[in-house]
Amino acid sequence: MPTVDLRSDTVTMPSPEMRRAMADAELGDDVWGEDPTINRLQEVAAERLGKEAALFVSSGTMGNLLGILVSARSGQEIIADADSHTFLSETGGAAALGGIQIMPVRTAAGIMTAEQVAEAIRVDDVHHPRTAAIAFEDTHNYHGGIAWPLEALRAASAEAHRNGLSVHLDGARLFNAAVATGSDVREIAACADTVTFCLSKGLAAPVGSVLAGPEEKIAEARRWRKMLGGGMREIGMLGAAGLFALENMVDRLAEDHANARTLAEGLAEMEGITLDLSRVQTNLVVFEVDRMAPAAFVAECEKRGVKGAQISRRQLRFVTHYGVTAADVQQALKAVGEVLGAA
Ligand SMILES: Cc1ncc(COP(=O)(O)O)c(C=O)c1O
Repeated sequence: MPTVDLRSDTVTMPSPEMRRAMADAELGDDVWGEDPTINRLQEVAAERLGKEAALFVSSGTMGNLLGILVSARSGQEIIADADSHTFLSETGGAAALGGIQIMPVRTAAGIMTAEQVAEAIRVDDVHHPRTAAIAFEDTHNYHGGIAWPLEALRAASAEAHRNGLSVHLDGARLFNAAVATGSDVREIAACADTVTFCLSKGLAAPVGSVLAGPEEKIAEARRWRKMLGGGMREIGMLGAAGLFALENMVDRLAEDHANARTLAEGLAEMEGITLDLSRVQTNLVVFEVDRMAPAAFVAECEKRGVKGAQISRRQLRFVTHYGVTAADVQQALKAVGEVLGAA
């Protein structure tokens, strides 16, 4: 029986059609700005998000780092959710490379209220760093893939802007958020100055993310990207994968969400699993098991052909994505049932 890999949507493989588009891509040197396919991807992405410009980057981590580096300088502070990917899982890049400190704000479910935004902004005091920017995450990975209600994002963002902050959106799964809330991706992106989204997750491209925003910030991000060694040459085949993903892989995300829902409902019924179904809004299913250590649970599931991930001391995660079918979900539920039954 083939393995069902539910560790992350980053494990998605390009479809045969995507591979063909990659093989046929027109190429040029992107550091010179001459790769026609990358240029096209950047134009299409900027247009799709309603931003002036966009930049292809190697990863979501680089997109977020550049978004921060163009919005704050050394000695300043940015606000981010205490459970955000940027704060927890991007190796302290903003501090290491930009001298920028993150003020973590604890939220109930990854949604920061306008009051929390206001509260986290530093007062004008010689002892304090200045708050320059704020980063939101939509969908929110460690809070179970919840999608911000558009009104909540608008309110938090408006508060930040009212206080002169720049707003960065970590939209690694921005299109999942749009599909889940029924919002246009432009409406979500309009809440932020700079936005990162990943092509390499649910959209199933093998590599790449995009940072979009105002012309001058994107020009500055291009310099940072070069400094970080992220200037790449004839990469049109990656651009072709990204274009294919934007054209063909967005609408099908609803299928991943439906599969995640079935998986979550099945898990929630099992004794020994704690799972908040209200957070299962997209393709992530975060839960805890109370009978065994998370690492042992992962190992036992893998023995039965199902891969999952431990994402914190207690939390486990299954992620549905392109390549995971409704039958795979049933296989996963059967495996988990056996693991818990034997525990
Ligand atoms: C919310 C979020 N932001 C950023 C990233 C980083 O993306 P990458 O792995 O491409 O660096 C991830 C990766 O899982 C993520 O879930």
